Amino acid sequence: MSIEQLAETAQAMVAAGKGIIAIDESTATIGKRFAAVGIENTEEHRRRYRELLLTTPKLSDHISGAILYDETIRQSTKDGIPFAQYMAKQGILPGIKVDKGTHPLAGCPGELVTEGLDGLRERLKEYYKLGARFAKWRAVINIGEDIPSGTCIEVNAHALARYAALCQEQGIVPMVEPEVLMDGDHDIQTCYEVTEAMLRSLFAALHDQGVLLEGTILKASMVVSGKACDEQADVEEVADSTLMCLKSTVPAILPGIVFLSGGQSDEDATAHLDAMNRSGNLPWPLSFSYGRAMQQTALAHWAKDLDGNFAKAQSIVLERAKENGLAAQGKWEG
Ligand code: 13P
Repeated sequence: MSIEQLAETAQAMVAAGKGIIAIDESTATIGKRFAAVGIENTEEHRRRYRELLLTTPKLSDHISGAILYDETIRQSTKDGIPFAQYMAKQGILPGIKVDKGTHPLAGCPGELVTEGLDGLRERLKEYYKLGARFAKWRAVINIGEDIPSGTCIEVNAHALARYAALCQEQGIVPMVEPEVLMDGDHDIQTCYEVTEAMLRSLFAALHDQGVLLEGTILKASMVVSGKACDEQADVEEVADSTLMCLKSTVPAILPGIVFLSGGQSDEDATAHLDAMNRSGNLPWPLSFSYGRAMQQTALAHWAKDLDGNFAKAQSIVLERAKENGLAAQGKWEG
């Protein structure tokens, strides 16, 4: 696989006015989302829900790719078309979550490390055959008393770089995701400092391990106040702080940055992205790779009547995709 092909895929992921829909919740995580709205967590319900999302009419007007979970990339539409094949036909790039989740980091109480490197080369080969053209690996950084430690940042950056190098070897664009969690009562300045340290460590590790940035996408968390902080930064401050942090740590050669929503409301996630793009003169396209902020309203609606509300839920997904597509261009009207 040539770097040109990887770069082409990466650029397509952040094409103007388009972003990613993250629908790669593990069986346990989608179970929590379903439970919150009263849907039973069966394989058929998961299949139908992912079909609802992926077959939304006109989705590809605003969505360049979707991140799938292992079970989903092996499932098909009700007419028997494998989801990855259906997506490719619509011009939506199939992506795949390849990490195996977070586990307590030995020797570092309260901190996590993401696992999943063992056997990853073989899994990537299979995912490529199944149609995946990009992959996701999520590292999680907690903010709290005396954490994160340098050790936690370093081991997670190292694992992200090992995953990224393996992806590129197999012709798959790595989406590297170091998520700094919003949980806690820390202020926005603390979030800035932790995000900056994480990104510095990540780009050093990517460089050390020979990862080609031209064929890599960063999935970043925004610089925000902790959820329980008394002083909540407004839209402008979040946009300014996030941009300053990214500009001082992320090389301009990267094809693009997409954000996670991380528990922000639908409206906040869109408003923050829009404000950053309105500021203009950015080194890279800034777009979205939202999970909850793309899905939560549609899921709640679908839950009320799985047959009767199928099309209405799809229209809500399309609306969220459209709004975020506008925000990716700094053209959202609110
Ligand atoms: P949220 O937008 O719900 O944070 O999910 C995005 C994602 O893929 C996290 O890994």
